[in-house]
Amino acid sequence: MEMEHTSRINTPLAQALTLPCGAVLSNRLAKAAMTEGLADADGVPTVELERLYGIWSDGGAGLLLSGNIQIDANHLERPGNVVIDRKPNRKMRTALAAWARAGTRNGNHFWAQICHAGRQTQKMINPHPSAPSAVKLGLPGGQFGEPLELTIDGIKGIVQRFGVCAAAVKEAGFTGVEIHAAHGYLLSQFLSPRSNLRKDQYGGKLENRARVLMDTVGSVRAAVGPAFPIAVKLNSADFQKGGFDFEDSLQVARWLEQAGVDLIEISGGTYEQPKLLGIAGIEEEEDQNVATSTLIREAYFVDFALAMREKVSLPLMVTGGFRQRRAMEQAIESGGVDLIGLGRPMCVDTDAPAQLLTGLDELKRYENTLALLPEWMSFLTHFDMIRSIAGFAVQYWFYAQLDSLGHDGVAVPGLSVFAASRRVIAQQKQWMSVRART
Ligand SMILES: Cc1cc2nc3c(=O)[nH]c(=O)nc-3n(C[C@H](O)[C@H](O)[C@H](O)COP(=O)(O)O)c2cc1C
Repeated sequence: MEMEHTSRINTPLAQALTLPCGAVLSNRLAKAAMTEGLADADGVPTVELERLYGIWSDGGAGLLLSGNIQIDANHLERPGNVVIDRKPNRKMRTALAAWARAGTRNGNHFWAQICHAGRQTQKMINPHPSAPSAVKLGLPGGQFGEPLELTIDGIKGIVQRFGVCAAAVKEAGFTGVEIHAAHGYLLSQFLSPRSNLRKDQYGGKLENRARVLMDTVGSVRAAVGPAFPIAVKLNSADFQKGGFDFEDSLQVARWLEQAGVDLIEISGGTYEQPKLLGIAGIEEEEDQNVATSTLIREAYFVDFALAMREKVSLPLMVTGGFRQRRAMEQAIESGGVDLIGLGRPMCVDTDAPAQLLTGLDELKRYENTLALLPEWMSFLTHFDMIRSIAGFAVQYWFYAQLDSLGHDGVAVPGLSVFAASRRVIAQQKQWMSVRART
């Protein structure tokens, strides 16, 4: 939704940010990574992705992060992910370059988020995905298969492939990479003592659980050189009993700083405990040892950033829940947060950053008005299975907005959650059938 941009206001959100590698972001607002599902059946970027990122580039953010790009075609986070699992051929190189051009057309940064989904790969993609250990996701509904424990050679191959992917996006014209080590995907699975039961050098104490992540950072840095931004998206905690907790996160943040990472994006949660979206999971949440401030209630992870700031000095980005400009400004002014990540608002209000920089006070909270079930049936969400389905369906509403922006250049905020779910399910089926034929 493009709007007339009037004059800029005086706000800390408009300040530039220089990263340790020397790159400069023009302001403090970033579009957070959101999976688009718009690649073709070979995982190659399409004109729909170009259209979507061109629109976002026009929207005023200093930084755009891509949705998660997979480094293994057998481990998609969802149908339609971009996949770079080898040195790109000509078709892939051309498509990546066109996507990077569209996403940087206003001079903003555009970073590729790179990922391996591990056990959070849906069964329809892979019934036996690779994971640190053979520990199945604890979710109802049978959407996820039985993972297989990775061999040491398998792990080394993955670390190397992250480097190949990073080199490819750099060559294509992306201006940075973000390694996805949050939200319960493979690198996050390695960090968690619940999903990583290994007895070798990749399991047990934190140093071992963090080994794959640290090796991945090394592999990516070797591929892109010293002057190219590398970010890591890291959970403040998984918020699960016996899981990766905030103490662990602080230690990993210190190691990442020592390894020369340029930015940590703080998020939290997994599919089992979707704190990243501010949603309660099925299991009981584990409280974390962090001082609670009353500074900014709406943002889910600001207190963690303030505490992390005491231990590390690299730039911190915080994503999740930010909607009020004043809250974003306070986060920056506190010194604990350097960059604000915006997710769901950007699915409809694609120029939200430009609007905030010209004085808009508050972004819309679409998530608060969306529900799969009518109000009178909401008691059903007490049941685990139904709550889980309802949570996915609301997520599908945001997917449908991205799909519409990619195809038609406009969002469809009037779409019902039910209609959006049907649209996304039909699109995924279609994608799967094309993939089966190729
Ligand atoms: C539609 C959608 C897709 C998402 N895809 C990704 C993704 O690919 N990678 C990622 O790190 N986070 C992903 N997230 C999480 C967002 O980056 C962000 O952490 C979350 O939406 C919270 O921010 P918000 O409250 O501003 O929406 C996704 C969220 C949504 C709503």
